[in-house]
Amino acid sequence: MKKGKQPAEPYRIKSVEPIKLLSRHERLKKIKQANYNIFKIDSEDIYIDLLTDSGTAAMSNAQWAALMMGDESYAGARSFRRFEKVVKDIFRKEFVIPCHQGRVAENLMFSTILQKGQYVLNNTHFDTTRANTLHKGGIAVDLPCREAKSSEPLPFKGNMDCRRLEEFVKEHGAEKVAMIIMTVTNNSSGGQPVSMANIHEVSEIAHRYNIPFYFDCARFAENCYFIKRDEPGFANKPIPEIARELFDACDGVMMSAKKDGLANIGGFIALNDEELYGRLTELLIIIEGYRTYGGLAGRDLEVLAVGLQEVMDFDYLDFRIEQVAYFGHRIKEAGMPIIEPTGGHAVFIDAGKLLPQIPPKQFPGQSLVVEFYIEGGIRTVEIGSIMFAETDSATGKIVPAPRELVRMALPRRVYTNSHIDYIADVAQRIVDRRESLPGYKIVRETKFLRHFTCDLDVLAVEEEKVKP
Ligand code: F0G
Repeated sequence: MKKGKQPAEPYRIKSVEPIKLLSRHERLKKIKQANYNIFKIDSEDIYIDLLTDSGTAAMSNAQWAALMMGDESYAGARSFRRFEKVVKDIFRKEFVIPCHQGRVAENLMFSTILQKGQYVLNNTHFDTTRANTLHKGGIAVDLPCREAKSSEPLPFKGNMDCRRLEEFVKEHGAEKVAMIIMTVTNNSSGGQPVSMANIHEVSEIAHRYNIPFYFDCARFAENCYFIKRDEPGFANKPIPEIARELFDACDGVMMSAKKDGLANIGGFIALNDEELYGRLTELLIIIEGYRTYGGLAGRDLEVLAVGLQEVMDFDYLDFRIEQVAYFGHRIKEAGMPIIEPTGGHAVFIDAGKLLPQIPPKQFPGQSLVVEFYIEGGIRTVEIGSIMFAETDSATGKIVPAPRELVRMALPRRVYTNSHIDYIADVAQRIVDRRESLPGYKIVRETKFLRHFTCDLDVLAVEEEKVKP
């Protein structure tokens, strides 16, 4: 990981949005009122929001200008034609289906192609991809490479395990596999990138067995940057050329354009299969809108057409990825163990290691999330046993998540390095009193996706904290 030295922001600020740090007393009140669930705090009461990098990017002057060019016609809008051309150029596919975000692309796809009991194989499914697969009667299988679990700072820990992939297909039969998906970068595995070599290998296996091979490419440009920087043979290739090679290897893509579309809303499917395009757009018209707008306004399509090109700018990507690395370096320097190397969009803190006094059933990740808010008005998210603990159907016992992590996702073009230094100072103050951090218990929860809405209570109650 790089220390200190990194490029400065390749943009200057034209419009600002004020943010406010509430007093410590107010923050304590707010988190208590939210029953220690950070999703229930209003954004007005947050100083620095690292909940997600999705839909949170700052638009460029070119994107704001494009907004005014929006053609809001129901059918055949000029804005769609512009968007379609850009998507075809970058993603190298004949047919483009707009929709309003990534999970709709997944819903359309799996509603259309999945038969009950079929498998979807992925390097690692993102939650909504997994949920959409299960919802349509499919079985979601993750095949991450072995290095994904290593604590060494290896490149391309987002890869798929090709040996296991081929074994799986042989064992279960190609007809049982509805689709192979490569998620770039691999969000659920620390935002780690996938190498071009791995993509070619998976593509070869998929095509040999006649299985459709798609990308979940929410962060494709960040992945291309890692290929250029770390994979032999790519240093001198421009990012758009790397993207072309990437997308020539697949049959189609599903994209949440709220990440590397540099937009606040949007998504799409792009593919070459005309017959499938027909079936997908039949459903699109029922649930999203006509073929040429799919739940988006014309101005959104204009913004995306600009954003998808801007995101491949080398200087932008260089700053972006190095800023995440700098962030990771500062958090580590403050004494918090992190997943290394840092990936493309977030720093993941290992709260289980930082807070060994709190067992998984008392949610060390959540304890750290609460503390970041109390100490500095910072919103992060637990990616541990609140989100992923499972009940063993045989024994009825609760199996904790593999790791108790906290994700600090960095919105694109939003926070400066001075914000990052502030976050690191807050981290340092938390580390200094980490032994006093309490565990939590869930007092109310829903059956599915409980992390969004559950209520918690602190175990070692420190009532005096909330006094003025
Ligand atoms: N695929 C990946 C890899 C994602 O990271 C996400 C969203 C989606 C699909 C779904 O897209 O939100 O537009 O419907 N990830 C966000 C996150 C929510 O915070 O990581 P969406």
